[in-house]
Amino acid sequence: MRASHFPFPSHAMPTQLAALKQWVESVAGLTQPQAIHWCDGSDAENAKLIDLMLATGDLIKLNEKTHPNCYLHRSSPSDVARVEHLTFVCTSKEVDAGPNNHWMSPADAHAKMDALYAGCMRGRTMYVVPYCMGPIDSPLARCGVEITDSPYVVANMRIMTRMGAPALARIEREANFVRGLHSIGDLNPDRRFIMHFPEELAIQSFGSGYGGNALLGKKCHALRIASYQARNEGWLAEHMLIVGIENPKGETHYVAAAFPSACGKTNLAMLIPPEGYRRDGWKVWTVGDDICWMRPGSDGRLYAINPEAGYFGVAPGTSAKTNPNALAMLNKDAIFTNVGVTADNQPWWEGLPEGVPVKDWQGRDYDKANGPAAHPNSRFTVSAVNCPSYTAHAEDAQGVPLSAIVFGGRRESLVPLVFEARDWTHGVLVGAAMASETTAAATGAVGVVRRDSMAMKPFAGYNFGDYFNHWLSFDKPGAKLPKVFHVNWFRKGSDGKFLWPGFGDNLRVLEWMLKRVGGDAGAVETPIGHIPKADDLNTAGLDLPAAVLDQLLAVDRAGWQAEMQAIGEYFAGYGERTPAPLAAEQQRIAASLS
Ligand code: GDP
Ligand code: PGA
Ligand code: MN
Ligand code: MN
Repeated sequence: MRASHFPFPSHAMPTQLAALKQWVESVAGLTQPQAIHWCDGSDAENAKLIDLMLATGDLIKLNEKTHPNCYLHRSSPSDVARVEHLTFVCTSKEVDAGPNNHWMSPADAHAKMDALYAGCMRGRTMYVVPYCMGPIDSPLARCGVEITDSPYVVANMRIMTRMGAPALARIEREANFVRGLHSIGDLNPDRRFIMHFPEELAIQSFGSGYGGNALLGKKCHALRIASYQARNEGWLAEHMLIVGIENPKGETHYVAAAFPSACGKTNLAMLIPPEGYRRDGWKVWTVGDDICWMRPGSDGRLYAINPEAGYFGVAPGTSAKTNPNALAMLNKDAIFTNVGVTADNQPWWEGLPEGVPVKDWQGRDYDKANGPAAHPNSRFTVSAVNCPSYTAHAEDAQGVPLSAIVFGGRRESLVPLVFEARDWTHGVLVGAAMASETTAAATGAVGVVRRDSMAMKPFAGYNFGDYFNHWLSFDKPGAKLPKVFHVNWFRKGSDGKFLWPGFGDNLRVLEWMLKRVGGDAGAVETPIGHIPKADDLNTAGLDLPAAVLDQLLAVDRAGWQAEMQAIGEYFAGYGERTPAPLAAEQQRIAASLS
């Protein structure tokens, strides 16, 4: 990093950690802020930032009666989603980033970013945000410091992470932290880059204020950098929700599920059981809705923590019918980004049965001709403890033990409602072979089927070939690994409507999985895995024609032959880094289909 005139003396910094002081000093020298503020995460600090943003128009106050302490942020209309084409993994060797990532050499990336950062904070305040990903006392947690010139980022990081004084104390103890530098720059998409330097444990982001590009603790640290660290240290950093399912006997089993962005993680994590299940005593507990860090415990099981402290969820489609828990947690202390508003200043998005939007997400008078009132990727940010189904086990320092791992995507055809992998190697294949229709969570075309291994295509910080190998490596003597499943809530009929009711009724599928784990549910063996017969699923109280259920559980052999061939070609793209056991598994399934 280029050092130039440094405006702030390091003795004024509230830390003794030399490495942190020096880094902050060099960033200030490069970016030339007017002031530096070290965030302590206090309520008073947050109140000041909110006032500041209300004054600048960065935040708009929502209806205090219906939504106390809730705010709306309207982003630049060209800055509403993650930008995968501008996201780079900068390893010394290109092959280590893999064909799954865009790569730039560390030297080129640093030169590019230094030029963008030079003087970029003139007239602005530079915020230094120490944060911890995971419970502050957890050995699985990891810390970072984000430097940013965006108070909106600070306010969001305060909700999404354990931010402030306790994190700084842990960083000083460990003397080890991920360095994240963020500036919104001028929000010009031509001057926007999200750079990752896994070998340096560093992130540099410029030109975007959008969550996944700017809240560096989330995707950049907890997935891209952490997945790289996890491989070296023998754990996994995954794009997964974590949910606890409590059965009528009072036993809770934890399930982690990887679905691509905007494919149902937040909804499954806070599912409300169908009425009959509620009556019988089933309960659902939310541990996390987007990211899962897991590692084997001394008993051989995989233990998982949610590194985040809040939810950054998709607003459209959230309603009392689909996700009542999410709706309930949005009644207070939430930040909304790019939703519409009603005449009495309540947040509004498509899918809410009540309320009429008067302003759209860009602040224009609402007019259907301009498209939806809320941007399809509009979001809410809210603390995890706001969720009625939040469990204190989310704070367990050792994590929760996993009984099942679920992969899934949005596939309007071919892929059955659910199937179970035969063993771990097959499970890794099922995850690696995942494909899903693209969504509004990233810029680019929507609805195009693409391979998205483990829902990590945008997030793995290293070569997928090595990543698959790392997954396979967990199958070792003494391991008691979770069973692996694949689901698809998104099959459509010829009328274009979803065949499966989804949402709360997804518990019916989870119940079957957990019974399979316990060894007391039936299934038929097919070349793609074990599939429930219609009467293996509890459909009591469900209004679903038998023919539709049969369609949801059928294996289209010809379709799967083509799919397996495409999967084989996909693996071939990783060349010699594709693990041999995975290629063998693919060939075995392809052969059994023909
Ligand atoms: P995430 O981004 O993976 O956390 O996905 P969300 O849970 O926020 O859901 C993204 C979108 O998919 C929202 O519009 C949801 O209403 C919708 N969705 C979630 N679960 C289901 C489901 O089971 N069935 C259907 N049809 N839609 C769903
Ligand atoms: P999501 O999280 O998975 O809830 O959509 C944000 C993202 O992946 O961009
Ligand atoms: Mn996500
Ligand atoms: Mn989500």
